[in-house]
Amino acid sequence: MPSMASSNSSDAAKINQGTKSDFIPRRQKIEQHRKNLPIAAVEKRLLEEVSNNDVLIIVGETGSGKTTQLPQYLFNGGFCRNGGIIGITQPRRVAAVTVAKRVAEECGVPLGQKVGYAVRFDDVTSSSTRIKYMTDGLLLREALLDPYLTKYSVIIVDEAHERTVHTDVLLGLLKTVQKTRSQGASDMLNNDHSKAENSMLLAKENDGQCTNVEKHRRGKKLSPLKLIIMSASLDAKIFSEYFGGARAVHVQGRQYPVDMLYTYQPETDYIDAALITIFQIHLEEGPGDILVFLTGQEEIESIQRLVQERLPKLPESKRKLLVIPIFASLPSEKQMKVFMPAPIGFRKVILATNIAETSVTIPGIKYVVDPGMVKVRTYDASTGIEPLIIVKTSKAQALQRSGRAGREGPGKCYRLYPENEFYKLKDSTTPEIKRCNLSNVILQLKALGIDDIVGFDFLEEPDRMAIIKSMELLFLLGALTDESKLSDPVGHQMARLPLDPIYSKALIVASQFNCLEEMLIVVAMLSVESIFYAPREKLEESRTALRSFSSPEGDHLTLLNVYRASEEFFEKSKLVSGNEKAEKNLRKWCKENFINSRSLKHARDIHSQIRKNVEQMGLRVTSCGDDMLPLRRCLAASFFLNAALKQPDGTYRALSSGLMVQIHPSSVLFRMKPECIIFDELVRTNQNYVRNVTRIDFLWLAELAPQCYALQE
Ligand code: CDP
Ligand code: MG
Repeated sequence: MPSMASSNSSDAAKINQGTKSDFIPRRQKIEQHRKNLPIAAVEKRLLEEVSNNDVLIIVGETGSGKTTQLPQYLFNGGFCRNGGIIGITQPRRVAAVTVAKRVAEECGVPLGQKVGYAVRFDDVTSSSTRIKYMTDGLLLREALLDPYLTKYSVIIVDEAHERTVHTDVLLGLLKTVQKTRSQGASDMLNNDHSKAENSMLLAKENDGQCTNVEKHRRGKKLSPLKLIIMSASLDAKIFSEYFGGARAVHVQGRQYPVDMLYTYQPETDYIDAALITIFQIHLEEGPGDILVFLTGQEEIESIQRLVQERLPKLPESKRKLLVIPIFASLPSEKQMKVFMPAPIGFRKVILATNIAETSVTIPGIKYVVDPGMVKVRTYDASTGIEPLIIVKTSKAQALQRSGRAGREGPGKCYRLYPENEFYKLKDSTTPEIKRCNLSNVILQLKALGIDDIVGFDFLEEPDRMAIIKSMELLFLLGALTDESKLSDPVGHQMARLPLDPIYSKALIVASQFNCLEEMLIVVAMLSVESIFYAPREKLEESRTALRSFSSPEGDHLTLLNVYRASEEFFEKSKLVSGNEKAEKNLRKWCKENFINSRSLKHARDIHSQIRKNVEQMGLRVTSCGDDMLPLRRCLAASFFLNAALKQPDGTYRALSSGLMVQIHPSSVLFRMKPECIIFDELVRTNQNYVRNVTRIDFLWLAELAPQCYALQE
């Protein structure tokens, strides 16, 4: 590293917390990189377009610099004058976090000051934050407390092509907010307050949460809102039409040719095929990093282990392969690793979920391995079930994935399926709003005072049946009244919790059953993927480890045992060796017990957040001690829609959907097969499996959920 001296280098080094010598080249490199991005050529024009249009649609190829650069241009262009914030929404938390870190670095400021991010359970912003990255779901939640989103002068809805349910609903909401704010601004000029009050506003007032109404009343001027919608897909028409013919501009990207390779035959095991392809590239191809698209944490971690196990078997000179995972629940400091260049002589292989398709652009990729699969949530309105399933990608996704190989030079994409399969893929992914349970969204819209869900101005209307089923679910959970209004207090409380309605219900019921202490742990543990891991070659050992935690009552109590055991270990270890060492010891403890330490850490973070949430809401956090009966009854009282009864042949019938299901082999009740169970989720592979299962008494259902179950006379 060349050493450089400059008059301001010490200040700069302080900001970067680096040394004098490595700071300047990095800053210069970043400046150079920024200038070279395709979007830099149109900075001026974009600023003009934003000034001239209240709604602007920006379409640009992935990697052209939209997400990282535009907010900085707007900031420098004076769009934060008067303290307004530029809010940028992302469908994925990983993108919000990594991009915010990058932009803070580009601006040379500590994260959380001028540039910050906020995602569920993690808020790194302050009163000085002006460029705020966040998830689309989080901004929706903010609207509950600030219905006009008055803090924001500009809102950028990024990655709109992803069409998550939150993005779609947010667009609908922003349309109203924008209208009201520009109307509000002109009304203020006319000194006429009343016109600006729409139903949303009045509803808030009735709610007693009318801070903005108050401000408004006191004469605070509502300033107009600029709205920018950014998308990687060329089809801007749908957004443009939705916003009354809004202007769309295109940012030209750069793309080098990508050589497409297919398999001759369909692969039966795409994990194995991906593994072989990784090594084939590593051993036979020239330098360049590899990006592999997988469907989730479990797959990623299993390939990571397999690659690491095989590496030592290669000749010494061929072992320079660095495996780097990236997925949503990975701790954020680990997520940043994908952006760091590999040490000299090493090749990086990045194992990613579809997050790397468009949300984050990783430099240095020359080879893409695409098994052609993706995990999606689906919803079957007739049964009310919402299984996560692994399906084939769409053509649009496959193209985005292969495009990742040609950003910095010519690349290669290995599709792990035959070429004719590509042409059979669907053109694009169905918007999530058409294939998901809407109860969460309905709960939020209701809390915003939007009662007429069917009449809501959706970008694309969800299925009527799905709306009805989701309302029914909310009604059965006690969140809605007979008149389909939000119930008091349960519905309001449920809307305030950043959780699935059933989990929120579980916490609320638990405070009545005096087991909220335990339920907070259970819900935190259910909110993360794969607490346990069972490597193929150590299956027996991992089973023995699991047995030491397992409860004959089921998986929820087993999860509770794991959490408590880890806490106990951690606390003891802290006393003996101090905080830092205790963290390390805990990771070791996890390894010995075949527990995924990343997942456990994530669960601990979620736990502390939701604990704060329920305390703020005034719920009583008490413990049921060693008696687990109240906790099981409480699970029955909240998961009653996921109840199943054993059939003579040992399978189960899910009571509300009528589906035949089996207990997943990973459950502690897999062999015990109790008469009646509740479950957390239904996984559909070749079988209908239910996961995270607890034994309950059939009679509790009629007692605790009479709105759903009655005993036969
Ligand atoms: O949003 P868009 O896909 O147009 O591009 P972007 O996310 O703004 O990325 C622009 C450039 O910044 C790419 O070359 C990325 O590789 C780089 N980048 C980075 O180096 N580190 C990050 N954490 C994020 C982006
Ligand atoms: Mg982007």
